[in-house]
Amino acid sequence: MDKQRLEQIVALAIERALGLEEAEKYVQGGELSKDVLLPVARAVAQLSRSFTERAEFQVGYLDELHYRKAYLLYYLPINVPKTWALLNELSAKPKLYLKGPIRVLDLGAGPGAATLGVLFHPLCGADIAEFFAVDRVTAVLADYEWIVSRLAQKLQRRHVIKTFAARLETVKFDGEFDIIILSNVINELARIKPRLVFDKVAEFLSLLSWQGSLLIVEPALKSAAIRLMKLRDALVEKCAVKIYSPCPAQSPCPMLATTDWCHSEVFWYRPRIVAQIDKLIGNRRDTLSFSYLIIRRDGHNLAELLSDAPLWRTVGKVHKQKGKSVCYCCGLGKYAPVVKLKREAADKSFEKLRRGEYLHFSFSERGAEVKIGAEDFFKSYGSYLVDEDMQDM
Ligand SMILES: C[S@@+](CC[C@H](N)C(=O)[O-])C[C@H]1O[C@@H](n2cnc3c(N)ncnc32)[C@H](O)[C@@H]1O
Repeated sequence: MDKQRLEQIVALAIERALGLEEAEKYVQGGELSKDVLLPVARAVAQLSRSFTERAEFQVGYLDELHYRKAYLLYYLPINVPKTWALLNELSAKPKLYLKGPIRVLDLGAGPGAATLGVLFHPLCGADIAEFFAVDRVTAVLADYEWIVSRLAQKLQRRHVIKTFAARLETVKFDGEFDIIILSNVINELARIKPRLVFDKVAEFLSLLSWQGSLLIVEPALKSAAIRLMKLRDALVEKCAVKIYSPCPAQSPCPMLATTDWCHSEVFWYRPRIVAQIDKLIGNRRDTLSFSYLIIRRDGHNLAELLSDAPLWRTVGKVHKQKGKSVCYCCGLGKYAPVVKLKREAADKSFEKLRRGEYLHFSFSERGAEVKIGAEDFFKSYGSYLVDEDMQDM
């Protein structure tokens, strides 16, 4: 997602949280004063702690104005590009455009990060869009309505917004949706039994239209990612759905037998306000990390669309060790360190692999290692989360 689009969203978030004067100052290139930002940064630091240490989690935290402001100014710009990245991958192969009128259901919507990602993305074309947002906090739905309607007007998109102050556990919908998103909310249902979360997600899946997809984004935390990996296995086993991505295969998640957890990382343009708050709280969000799952109603799997051969997907970064490069990959129902010896590497493409690339290669197995030798073939089909202009950042 590019700088211009994201800063446009940031300007609206500043207007909502701090008023038009501060927003205009920011748009003209000015920095927000420390007096204004310090209380925001303090609230961001508190939210950050409660998002990462579940024990401290306060239900309904967005009822409090200072947390809502912190969310608008920091987490909203961070979460929009995550939805955008998923939509890039969703629409990658074959190029997919949704036919309108498009219906979007944003569950645990907060001030609208996921919806804003959808609103901007070319996947959704220019047709009228209906946005349905559910959140347990009424006040945050007012932020949602304010910011989504303004952005839709700026983009001259015909739109309808319907908000529902309700709990996900009990909310019911009729009709079908083209995009259903659970963005950073399953993590907050941790107190609820996994079986109930599964039942509810299965119910949401049944609401997908013929061109519909379910998108789940979660923090890249070990606990959240493992819950998502287990949910993924339950959905494949009990709902007979096929995962579109990130999984190249439908067999049980092989990472669950390890101490690792599945997460992705993308480069992004970090808005100035996020950089300013990061500086105050000692963070450095150069990249965005998250776990995710995409399920398409049409039953497609991205790896199968890319190639008839069974593909692997890079799950970690390449580590250069003495005489060899190692990258953890998922494929053929395995999660394994894939090793390429330097002296056998005719080209450097293996060393340049990023997380999320789809690969086809021949190999031999040596213990737990998958080894690509000099005689083996190796091809990357690339990664689809990131826009082309962000690939080289
Ligand atoms: C971390 S925020 C995510 C907001 C937005 N989806 C995003 O990605 O930026 C989680 C949101 O889920 C809402 N939420 C948490 N538990 C909920 C529940 N049981 N029912 C409905 N909403 C819930 C919270 O109020 C909050 O707005």
